[in-house]
Amino acid sequence: MTELVIIGAGGFARETAQAVRAAGLPLAGHLDDDPALHGVEVDGVPVLGGTERIHELPDASFVVCVGSPRDYASRARVVRRLGLPEHRYATVVHPTAVVSASSVLGPGTVLLAHTVLTAAVRVGRHVAVMPHTVLTHDDEVGDFATLASGVRLGGAARIGRGAYLGAGSLVREGTSVGAWSQVGMGSTVLADVPAGEVWVGAPARRLRAAAPPALEQLTADDDTTLARGVNGR
Ligand SMILES: CC(C)(COP(=O)(O)OP(=O)(O)OC[C@H]1O[C@@H](n2cnc3c(N)ncnc32)[C@H](O)[C@@H]1OP(=O)(O)O)[C@@H](O)C(=O)NCCC(=O)NCCS
Repeated sequence: MTELVIIGAGGFARETAQAVRAAGLPLAGHLDDDPALHGVEVDGVPVLGGTERIHELPDASFVVCVGSPRDYASRARVVRRLGLPEHRYATVVHPTAVVSASSVLGPGTVLLAHTVLTAAVRVGRHVAVMPHTVLTHDDEVGDFATLASGVRLGGAARIGRGAYLGAGSLVREGTSVGAWSQVGMGSTVLADVPAGEVWVGAPARRLRAAAPPALEQLTADDDTTLARGVNGR
């Protein structure tokens, strides 16, 4: 079994380390670019050094666990910078999570404790799902999305690439949250949220444009899409 290395050593990374241990998977440690953490242990797990050390670990698998409500695009930036092929990324599922046989999870995705995926849920790559989140039939969650603790999605909801759903937020069945948009904690989404916006409240309404790091990713995605079009793919 390959050893797992967690990129980042902050809150979400430490939570993922505990999930890895609970799942009985071999954990080598964290890599973090903060030199103050190098050589120390966080929650009993060693910080092995900076992210440049990925090249010294050819047999390890990785999971990128960075991001915060203020900069939820950071996971996408780190994945882009590392440039690792997809097969180098692990998928971490806490043993108390319930993942139906008809659901699929992408590489680099983490499901924390008591997450439930009821039926035919599709979760993309590098998605962070915090404890007690419930995804119901036919939901789709795009790459790099973050679902904070206690999020509930009605059936056939679509969560765009890189979107951030705050703790305890609710999304009505058949509704979508656009790419790199953010929904505030405790909010109730009843209508489609466009890309690149922050919505809050019950029912959720537009608060403002998304923060610059998220908007930069939205633009970068558009550029990639354009490039794909030019190449005829
Ligand atoms: C949505 C969010 C990003 C907005 O942050 P912000 O831009 O700093 O907003 P502010 O705190 O300045 O609030 C701006 C206004 O929106 C309101 N507001 C902010 N968040 C809200 C929420 N979740 N629900 C309802 N209203 C909210 C504020 O009351 C304020 O209203 P006012 O102008 O009438 O006083 C933030 O409040 C949030 O919910 N983040 C997610 C946190 C989370 O889920 N954490 C868990 C994982 S660690």
